[in-house]
Amino acid sequence: MRIAITGAAGFLGQKLVARLCESGRLPTASTAETGADPAIAELALFDLCEPPEPEGAPFRVRTQAGDIADPAALTALLADGADVVYHLAAVVSSAAEADFDLGLRVNLDGTRALLEVCRRLPGPAPQFIFASSVAVYGGDLPEAVRDDTALAPQSSYGTQKAVCELLVNDYSRRGFIDGRVLRLPTIVVRPGRPNQAASSFASSIIREPLQGETAALPVPEDTALFVLSPRRVLDALCHAAAVPAEAFGACRSVMLSGVSVTVAEMIRALARVGGEEAVARIEQRPDPRIAAIVGGWPARFDTRKAARLGFTGDADMDAIVQAFVEDDMVPQAGH
Ligand SMILES: NC(=O)c1ccc[n+]([C@@H]2O[C@H](COP(=O)([O-])OP(=O)(O)OC[C@H]3O[C@@H](n4cnc5c(N)ncnc54)[C@H](O)[C@@H]3O)[C@@H](O)[C@H]2O)c1
Repeated sequence: MRIAITGAAGFLGQKLVARLCESGRLPTASTAETGADPAIAELALFDLCEPPEPEGAPFRVRTQAGDIADPAALTALLADGADVVYHLAAVVSSAAEADFDLGLRVNLDGTRALLEVCRRLPGPAPQFIFASSVAVYGGDLPEAVRDDTALAPQSSYGTQKAVCELLVNDYSRRGFIDGRVLRLPTIVVRPGRPNQAASSFASSIIREPLQGETAALPVPEDTALFVLSPRRVLDALCHAAAVPAEAFGACRSVMLSGVSVTVAEMIRALARVGGEEAVARIEQRPDPRIAAIVGGWPARFDTRKAARLGFTGDADMDAIVQAFVEDDMVPQAGH
C-alpha cells in the first residue's frame, strides 16, 4: 500500500508519520473487504520544506518539498500512484484571515490541484482523507450543531474548508476519489510553540504553565470551545481509512466527537494536574480580534454520526491534559 501525506512537516503530519511508522500498516475499507495486505510499502511526504525522513521506518519513505498549489509538484509526488492520500497542508485560521490571497491559494487552489491529480491516477480511486474544521460552521446556529447543519463560516479559512468539503463530496460522487472529510475540533494540547491559529491560546494555557512558562489568554474565561486531543485526532485519521465508503451516506464529512468546555473549565483541569502555581502563569491579555474569531465557533455538537462510524473522542478535559503529559510534555529540569 502506498500512502501520501501533504503538510507532512506540520504538527499533525509529523504525528501521523510517527504513528504509521510505529504500526507499519493501515487497514482500509478495501483491505478489510478483499483481505489485501494492509502493510505500508511506501510513504510519500510533501510540504513546503522537505519533511524530515523518519528514522527506522519499516517501509520506503520519499520526501519532497513543493507548493501544494503547483500541479507539477503534485504530479511528481503521486507519480507512482497512491492508495490513500492524507491532505493536511493548509494555511491555518488566523494566517488565512490575515492574508486572503494566500489562504485562497493554499487552502482552496491547493486542494483543487491535489484533487485533480488524484482524479487522473490510474487504477482504483484513491482514498482522500481531508482535514476540515469546526470553522466551517458559524452564524445562527442551533443549540447543538449537527453534521447536516448548514455551513455558514464566518472566516476566510472556514469558507475555504467548506468549499473544499463540497469538492471532496462531488469528486467522490463521481468516483474520482473515495473522500473522507474529518471536521476537527480545536486540537488541544498542541506541543511546541504558539502558532498563528486563532485557537493557539487554547493549547498555550495548558502547555506553557505545565512546562514552567507564562501563557497569554486573549479571550474571556466564559469562551466555550470544542476540543480534542492530538492522540484522538491521530486515532481518527487512521480510523477514517477503515470506514466503508457507504457508511458516510450522501455526505463524506463527519464532525469528530470533542469535549465541550469553557476556558474556565480548562483552567480548572490545569489546576488539578499542575496546581495553582501553574494557573498563576496564565496572564489575561485581551485580544478582540482573536475573541471575535473564536467566539464565532460553535462549542456544542451532536456527534452521533462520528459515533456511528466508530470514531471515539476523549472522556473529558482531564483526559486531554493527561494525554499531553504522557505524549508530549517536555520534562522540566528538576522534575
Ligand atoms: N491543529 C488544529 O487545531 C486543527 C483544527 C482543525 C483543522 N486542522 C487542519 O488540519 C491540518 C493540519 O493542521 P496542523 O495543525 O498540522 O497545521 P500545521 O500548520 O502544523 O501544518 C500544516 C502544514 O502545511 C504546510 N503548508 C502550508 N502551505 C503550504 C503550501 N503552499 N504547500 C505545501 N505545504 C504547505 C505547512 O508548511 C505545514 O507544515 C490543516 O489542514 C488544518 O487546517 C487543524
